[in-house]
Amino acid sequence: MNTYRDEAVPLLSARGLVKAYGRTPALRGASLDLHAGEILAVTGPSGSSKSTLLHCLAGIVRPDEGTVSYGDETLSGLPEARLGELRRTDFGVVFQFGQLIPELTVRDNVALPLLLGGLGRAQAGARADEWLERFGVRGQRELRPGELSGGQAQRVALARALVTGPRVVFADEPTGALDSLSGEQVMTALVGAARETGAAVLLVTHDAQTAAYAGREVRMADGTVEPAEVTA
Ligand SMILES: Nc1ncnc2c1ncn2[C@@H]1O[C@H](COP(=O)(O)OP(=O)(O)O)[C@@H](O)[C@H]1O
Ligand SMILES: [Mg+2]
Repeated sequence: MNTYRDEAVPLLSARGLVKAYGRTPALRGASLDLHAGEILAVTGPSGSSKSTLLHCLAGIVRPDEGTVSYGDETLSGLPEARLGELRRTDFGVVFQFGQLIPELTVRDNVALPLLLGGLGRAQAGARADEWLERFGVRGQRELRPGELSGGQAQRVALARALVTGPRVVFADEPTGALDSLSGEQVMTALVGAARETGAAVLLVTHDAQTAAYAGREVRMADGTVEPAEVTA
């Protein structure tokens, strides 16, 4: 695990990813490195396979070809149980529409990953409250997701993604459904939390204002990542 602290060794790395949906090609040889603690924006037009790349990196979708390495593990070689564990403990995910569970309260949504990880109810609830507090939505903790504004829902989704202390946060168009002020609040919250916890962020967006929060940006076109990787 020491390698995670070596700046030269990426935390997460994709090589030559290929993925098609039936006869529709999506990824066509995409490669990318994400370093510990960095905020990397992946930009590109709609349909350029940004989401597919994120899903492969997060172990949600298995690529047809190519490898994803996380530390010294190769995701494609892992049994489903270990992948599930990584998704629960090391990875946090935020989607464009927060994908909170509508039947659960805000607080239970945030506590859920901790409960699934075996933490007791009281402790999980207390930790959920801390994250809700820091994202300014503790006052909404007894509400259901349907009662929140879009910006509040995304801040709850951020709390849920960060509550387990992940090393990587995957955010797929996290501001895509928000007005620009709410988008700024969500990005400020995400970047602040990532800096503080040391989590790396893979930020997929087609919005330049959102991408500006990243320390580095790569562009996707036609299922590949353009080589112009400039370290900020
Ligand atoms: N579940 C799916 N089934 C079929 N085609 C898909 C699916 N997901 C994505 N695609 C196709 O794969 C390509 C890349 O999509 P996506 O990764 O969502 O791109 P982006 O996030 O950049 O808009 C598009 O042509 C899209 O229509
Ligand atoms: Mg997408």
